[in-house]
Amino acid sequence: MSAQTSAIQSTLVENRVFPPSDATVAAARISGMAGYEALCAEADKDYEGFWARLARENVVWNKPFTQTLDESNAPFYKWFQDGELNASANCLDKHIGTPTENKTAIIFEADGGEVTKVTYKELLAKVSQFANVLKAKGVQKGDRVVLYMPMTIEGVIAMQACARIGATHSVVFGGFSSKALHERIQDAGAVAVVTANYQMRGGKELPLKAIVDEALAMGGCESAKSVIVFQRTPTAVNMVAGRDSFMHEEMAQQSTECAPEFVGAEHPLFVLYTSGSTGKPKGVQHSTGGYLLWAKLTMDWTFDLKDSDIFWCTADIGWITGHSYVAYGPLAAGATQIIFEGVPTFPKADRFWKMIEKHKCTIFYTAPTAIRSLIKAADSDESVHPARSDLSSLRILGSVGEPINPEAWMWYYKNVGGERCPIVDTFWQTETGGHMVTPLPGATPLVPGSCTLPLPGIQVAIVDEAGHDVPNGSGGILVVKKPWPSMIRTIWGDPERFKKSYFPEELKGYYLAGDGAVRSEDRGYFRITGRIDDVLNVSGHRMGTMEIESALVAKSDIVAEAAVVGRPDDLTGEAIVAFVVLKGPVPTGDDAKALAKELRDWVGKEIGPIAKPKEIRFGENLPKTRSGKIMRRLLRGIAKGETITQDTSTLENPAILDQLSKTN
Ligand code: WT7
Repeated sequence: MSAQTSAIQSTLVENRVFPPSDATVAAARISGMAGYEALCAEADKDYEGFWARLARENVVWNKPFTQTLDESNAPFYKWFQDGELNASANCLDKHIGTPTENKTAIIFEADGGEVTKVTYKELLAKVSQFANVLKAKGVQKGDRVVLYMPMTIEGVIAMQACARIGATHSVVFGGFSSKALHERIQDAGAVAVVTANYQMRGGKELPLKAIVDEALAMGGCESAKSVIVFQRTPTAVNMVAGRDSFMHEEMAQQSTECAPEFVGAEHPLFVLYTSGSTGKPKGVQHSTGGYLLWAKLTMDWTFDLKDSDIFWCTADIGWITGHSYVAYGPLAAGATQIIFEGVPTFPKADRFWKMIEKHKCTIFYTAPTAIRSLIKAADSDESVHPARSDLSSLRILGSVGEPINPEAWMWYYKNVGGERCPIVDTFWQTETGGHMVTPLPGATPLVPGSCTLPLPGIQVAIVDEAGHDVPNGSGGILVVKKPWPSMIRTIWGDPERFKKSYFPEELKGYYLAGDGAVRSEDRGYFRITGRIDDVLNVSGHRMGTMEIESALVAKSDIVAEAAVVGRPDDLTGEAIVAFVVLKGPVPTGDDAKALAKELRDWVGKEIGPIAKPKEIRFGENLPKTRSGKIMRRLLRGIAKGETITQDTSTLENPAILDQLSKTN
């Protein structure tokens, strides 16, 4: 750590508080804590009335709803059930005939730096054209379409086009392997796949279409009748006659008009797969009405969006952040947004700062892992320091995906925000659809490392294992006590798992987020202490330890058993450490290195590069209780390099700890 960053850290011990400036408060949509408290009070007084008002004001309904919340089949809550709407009409058609129609909707900057812009009117024409392509391919309302796309305007077009015809999209992040893609196409029963020939990242052309081919060749995906390919680069790819076609060729044959298909508010807008505590990813199903309401409203509330803003969320559309704050929220709110194809370090680690300067970005929303890597880059190379770019256009900064450590927060605040821009540290999840606990830029005094307070109407609390509230200052389990409009509706095809995972009986019907948290004694501010289940957060990406373990033991010719844990990491938040028992003898030296590499590559192929363990340790066995349960707590200690001082008398094989503590 540089002298500068350690100095910053020491100021944090004082627990500094950063209130918004008077000017920010005066100009904000939710102005001051009084504004925040007034909304909270409205929700407390009449919960359904509060949400009904917001849903009427923020969503365009083709048919108005008469019932706000239906709890008759809890926890399968229904919101605005008899209302009808179309998500794409709410993002595009709504702006036609208003001054927004000729406003730039998207400023796209490609990996290589080329810039393309589309207005709302142009985007509507393209979305309609592609919606007609999907219809021509036989895709119907209720069908699932898997998207395996790069970060491009076309990615957003494909999502919006699905929404327009009432098809449910399932976006798979372009970094997932063919095996992971196959599993998702199959689970969703997709009728079509939309992809690109290649994606460009960091100056490299990376295959997408070839991976789709591999996934479909694995069999069991017979439902997928067509593959539509966006030609991102001139490089040719294999095209299967009768199944594959090019997006531009198909679009050229279609009209630029397509009437939106109105759907019920509960109609599944999308299914997005995420990791849970078992080996199988969960298809998180979201609604149309409640989801869209929250995506739009949190743009206004959390980001205090103004007509003149240039909004930039750096998340990929393969994650929930890219759904709510790229594909839907900004468009529903009529914002101009930046979409970036590449990586923050190409051609140099000042790409973000140069892009903020060039496009006069006003609201910048990124992940702590990106900030930490850019701090490191700026510490070692002055020329990429944010001070070398003009960042004066910025007015609000955001953070998402994992806890932001106070020293990274301070650096972001000072060097990117010029001590002028509030940082909204937004806590939420794939399952919550949008922000849950976050500061409001024109209201909440900020404390570095804290996501502060729940948004109005969101009943977040910290409880013990029996569901009783714990006092401020004591850690506990983060729950949401009341249903909210943008919550997960079910796990695609597995309602029982939905109930068990999120509404366990002992928690009185509260929604279980899976995170630990603590509220500060002075302000009642929330601080997230990390996952309490077997889920890791690596660079803001959620990974199930069981998923990685299943991948490792699937290499059944050499692996007998595996246990995966997380270890704190300065750059990635958590790092994946795998303890592996081989079928053969415990390897040492170069053999151990070669085997570790083989297994890492294997996991990369089974799940994707993001799941590759940072470290693999081999042993004859794993520490187990006499009943055969793996003692993960001990493995976490070993992974951190701690000497084990706990009582190990319940262990079947205490000697194994020594062996695993040594690197092979
Ligand atoms: C998990 C959800 C939220 C969209 C991106 C990740 C962690 C997320 C924060 C934050 C502390 C955070 C939690 C959560 N997380 N945001 N601001 N502070 N932790 O979505 O992949 O569903 O992961 O990310 O552990 O449960 P996700």
